[in-house]
Amino acid sequence: MLLGKDVPRLTVSIDIPQAVRWHAGALRIIDQTLLPAEYREIDLVDVDDVVEAITRLRVRGAPAIGVAGALGLVASLGPHLDLSAPEFRARLEESGDRIRKARPTATNLAWAVDRLLRRARLDAGASNSELWSSLLAEATAILEEDREMCRRIGEHGLKLLRDGSTVLTHCNTGALATAGIGTALAPVYLAAERGLCVRVLATETRPLLQGSRLTAWELERAGIDVTVLPDGAAADAMRALGVDMVIVGADRIVANGDVANKVGTYGLAIAARHHRIPFYVAAPSSTFDFSLESGDRIPIEQRGGDEVRRMSGRQIAPETVAVYGAAFDVTPAELISGIITEAGLFKPTEVSTLRSRSDNAEV
Ligand code: MRU
Repeated sequence: MLLGKDVPRLTVSIDIPQAVRWHAGALRIIDQTLLPAEYREIDLVDVDDVVEAITRLRVRGAPAIGVAGALGLVASLGPHLDLSAPEFRARLEESGDRIRKARPTATNLAWAVDRLLRRARLDAGASNSELWSSLLAEATAILEEDREMCRRIGEHGLKLLRDGSTVLTHCNTGALATAGIGTALAPVYLAAERGLCVRVLATETRPLLQGSRLTAWELERAGIDVTVLPDGAAADAMRALGVDMVIVGADRIVANGDVANKVGTYGLAIAARHHRIPFYVAAPSSTFDFSLESGDRIPIEQRGGDEVRRMSGRQIAPETVAVYGAAFDVTPAELISGIITEAGLFKPTEVSTLRSRSDNAEV
């Protein structure tokens, strides 16, 4: 984790939903496919169910799937402590491999699973139950670090906001997407906590509607002023509604500062540049992938065409029409005004300095 030294601590208590946590030997998540109509928590222990929940977006958002992948892996091993030590370790590797492949774009998922697998290799001589306890401690640390990173992102991002600011955002990057108060929405939560009035314009985010279903739900629940826009209205909103800045999250940030995020982000960055509106990306260090030099190397998840052809089970396009199913796009660094991390605000060209900081911190 990258820690800024000059960050004043805030003592805030915001009532936010807990998207992902450990509960009585299980991974407990809010089933986000049901929101906003129904709030339901589900407990997962079986590796098939963990993979299904991540793939189906019951739990989603880059940091949240990292935490869910780690806790889910530990939960799935709990019923198998009486295997022989080699069988137990083989199961850990095999289940870890399945979970890390459940979604390809958000680097946080592979990062979190790999961290557990590294922990296991360091604990080479441990018994199954010792190893399991050590993995649970590591997964819990990932959750707690994520919570802390969200708070620090919020504190740094808060410096960009004023009373009366209007922020346009995309997808869902709040509590539902992390273990804490979110990434792009973290400054908004802290502004609200300080009594500042900040208005959020949330794009609907077709096809799965993370903006209208999830961002609108969690911000309304917190008493924050939120307006939902059809995706196609975003450029017009920038022209007509006095947008002060765009803040989005990220699924992967690579060495040259290019950013993969929910499809539609690239178009928002182009529209923001045209309207001279600053375009910020907020993300924790677990979202950085310094191994890739540029955004064209990022694996982009392709999703089934029925997510576009159908809505709530109803057909809304011809059944056999071709669909472009990219779930993410890549925004080039040159369109990004700044990247807000737990260590502060950086220019995309400074991403390489974050690499050396994280090497020092052994992220
Ligand atoms: O497909 P999703 O809903 O997992 O996509 C989520 C996003 O694109 C978010 O913007 C990103 O993961 C950052 S969440 C803090």
